[in-house]
Amino acid sequence: MQREQDMIDHNSLTRREMLRLAAGFAATLALGAAVAGRNSNAAQIEAPQPEGAGRMTTRPIPSSGELLPVIGLGTYINFDVAPGSAGYRALPAVLDALFSAGGTVIDSSPMYGRAERTTGELLAAREPRPKAFLATKVWTHGREAGIAQMEESFRLLKTDRIELMQIHNLVDWRTHLPILRRWKEDGRIRYIGITHYTPSAYGAVEAVMKAEPLDFLQINYALDDRAAEERLLPLARERGIAVICNSPFGGGGLLQRLRGRPLPGWAAEVGAASWAQLALKFLLGHPAVTCAIPGTGNPRYMAENAAAGSGPALTEAQRRELIAAVG
Ligand SMILES: NC(=O)c1ccc[n+]([C@@H]2O[C@H](COP(=O)([O-])OP(=O)(O)OC[C@H]3O[C@@H](n4cnc5c(N)ncnc54)[C@H](OP(=O)(O)O)[C@@H]3O)[C@@H](O)[C@H]2O)c1
Repeated sequence: MQREQDMIDHNSLTRREMLRLAAGFAATLALGAAVAGRNSNAAQIEAPQPEGAGRMTTRPIPSSGELLPVIGLGTYINFDVAPGSAGYRALPAVLDALFSAGGTVIDSSPMYGRAERTTGELLAAREPRPKAFLATKVWTHGREAGIAQMEESFRLLKTDRIELMQIHNLVDWRTHLPILRRWKEDGRIRYIGITHYTPSAYGAVEAVMKAEPLDFLQINYALDDRAAEERLLPLARERGIAVICNSPFGGGGLLQRLRGRPLPGWAAEVGAASWAQLALKFLLGHPAVTCAIPGTGNPRYMAENAAAGSGPALTEAQRRELIAAVG
């Protein structure tokens, strides 16, 4: 499928804590599998929280100090599905896996077909409506078109407040930024960000980060796609800009390459049972990273990804070993 090209101290963790973390992960997986088979009535999937639930690590958004759970959910492709389809019916359980693990961040865009509408429908169907950290984007040219598109995002997401409004791929950013600032002052949005997906745009991204006060940068950063480490991630730290990692699995290609390869011998020690979890823990090991937003329409994957957001952090030596593993 073509995709948009878009802490706990390790040494302080006792064996008992490790077993509890492992048990929590297993329970979360079991919950995901169970709800996946139930066919999506949002009211049905309110289940008791598994042990370990809600323990996801949080990190401060530098501009406010607000704590953000480190693993979220991307909605590209998987949320662009029609009501009644198998893909759509699986999504309430995906959200259940995100929320039950303590995650809140959901990232969308008007570029993602029906994804904002699907997200709004599924959140509105849950009683009470969950406190999601909604991130979406403006992706058009012109002031009036930008305003109309963002108003439509509020309508589709069925909300009167969007946590994070981002300028998608910097499209017409000079036009949109003043509107975003005004809407932030008015309280319609809480944070402002920019996004991109390719190193060829990093020069432009860097220039905007230096010139404009921003709350968030959303950028492609993955175990096998680390160009953002050179300038953007250090600059984000220096400027106090939160970082969301998009395409953390390279659209899925990274995991396909690693499929069948044995995990490092220390994987269980850091609470990782898959390459997906190691790839996410790798990102969280960078001090500039606030959150990663793997995309999925599979509740089991969502539970697995969310579980990577708790437990021990990787050491630098472990991070280097992972880099070597992907060549
Ligand atoms: N310019 C931008 O602003 C920009 C660019 C790119 C991405 N984004 C954002 O970042 C999000 C993530 O990027 P992405 O969706 O392109 O790619 P991604 O998260 O790198 O990869 C998604 C792929 O990984 C698979 N996957 C997810 N969890 C897995 C697991 N635990 N085990 C095995 N496979 C797993 C998914 O499979 P299934 O499909 O089977 O679930 C899907 O094929 C997007 O959804 C979007 O919100 C923004």
